[in-house]
Amino acid sequence: MTEQKRALVTGLTGQDGSYLAEFLLKKGYEVFGLVRRTSSPRLDRVEPILDRVNIVYGDLLDQSSLQRVLGNCMPHEIYNLAAQSFVPTSFAEPVLTAEVTALGATRLLEAVRHVHPGARYYQASSSEMFGAVRETPQNEMTPFVPRSPYGVSKLYAHWTTVHHREAYGIFACSGILFNHESPRRGEEFVTRKIARAAARISQGRQTELRLGNLEARRDWGFAGDYVRAMWLMLQAEQADDFVVATGETHSVREFCERAFARVGLDWEAHVVTDESFLRPLEVDLLVGDASRAREQLGWSPTVSFEGLVDMMVDAELGCAQ
Ligand code: NAP
Ligand code: GDD
Repeated sequence: MTEQKRALVTGLTGQDGSYLAEFLLKKGYEVFGLVRRTSSPRLDRVEPILDRVNIVYGDLLDQSSLQRVLGNCMPHEIYNLAAQSFVPTSFAEPVLTAEVTALGATRLLEAVRHVHPGARYYQASSSEMFGAVRETPQNEMTPFVPRSPYGVSKLYAHWTTVHHREAYGIFACSGILFNHESPRRGEEFVTRKIARAAARISQGRQTELRLGNLEARRDWGFAGDYVRAMWLMLQAEQADDFVVATGETHSVREFCERAFARVGLDWEAHVVTDESFLRPLEVDLLVGDASRAREQLGWSPTVSFEGLVDMMVDAELGCAQ
């Protein structure tokens, strides 16, 4: 009989961690989820699978906790999804962001190197690393020009992943994922903020939606599709870096149009521009070329932009998902 595969997921309580844990359970994995101590539990996203996931306590800020967890779980695969992931907070708390999002990856990779070098490692890298884009669409060869402390931190984590692969032979992959959303997206991110407001305004529970830059363009996909790409990377014969994206770009304005139309409203009657949501530096345009993932991993997205917006608005309206 073959041994049951074990996976360690950091960032279990986040959007992607919850989708990935569900995906791995369906594949028959024993799943360990790294959770940091908080004064009240943040397990709402993983509530339905709590009886099937092993919660292990640790923190990307604490080297010894990562070594202890790795030594206890001895996972075949490690998915490092934990991060301070909100770009505006990275401007307000740049040092914390670097400690968690940048150095956290080095701490975990060093734990892998010393405790369990045979494990396969996935790093949650980001299209935010492309920043002031040098070419369009962006692929694995596009230069990185990050425009936020978050982007800078993710770039450090990306290179520390490549470095551990090349220097120590660790099977380490960096997934350069473009924005991916879902009904489980954090409420401060723009897609969830818009979907939630459209639903609430249509129900008379909110009157206006205050937003920053409406012209920013993103390549938005569905998180459920993107966690499949993470897993595929760790099943490949060789470790590599992969862009994961839909190849389509849409503006925040277009997201508003579609979301409000879904509830029969004119977005312009309800959206107010608020300078306090502007960033010190903006990433104006992101659109990815996922050819490598398509050709080498057989990955492609299943949810369109329109399908994603509708899914998120419907979830806010209380429809079954
Ligand atoms: P998310 O919802 O913000 O989840 C972040 C997770 O990291 C949470 O579980 C959080 O735990 C955990 N975390 C934060 N600080 C930690 C620490 N010091 N030690 C241990 N855990 C810590 O993010 P997401 O959208 O799921 O994204 C997953 C990963 O992919 C992140 O690394 C993100 O930067 C990256 N990424 C996301 C996208 C996207 O569009 N979603 C695109 C590219 C890359 P708490 O619940 O306790 O806060
Ligand atoms: N959050 C937010 N709130 N963004 C707004 C608002 C607002 O009120 N108004 C306009 N925007 C614009 C932002 O300026 C940005 O250009 C765009 O909407 C998307 O913002 P977010 O949803 O906060 O995501 P992000 O692109 O900054 O970062 C996300 O994607 C990255 C991948 O490129 C995060 O998930 C990162 O963790 C991820 O790495």
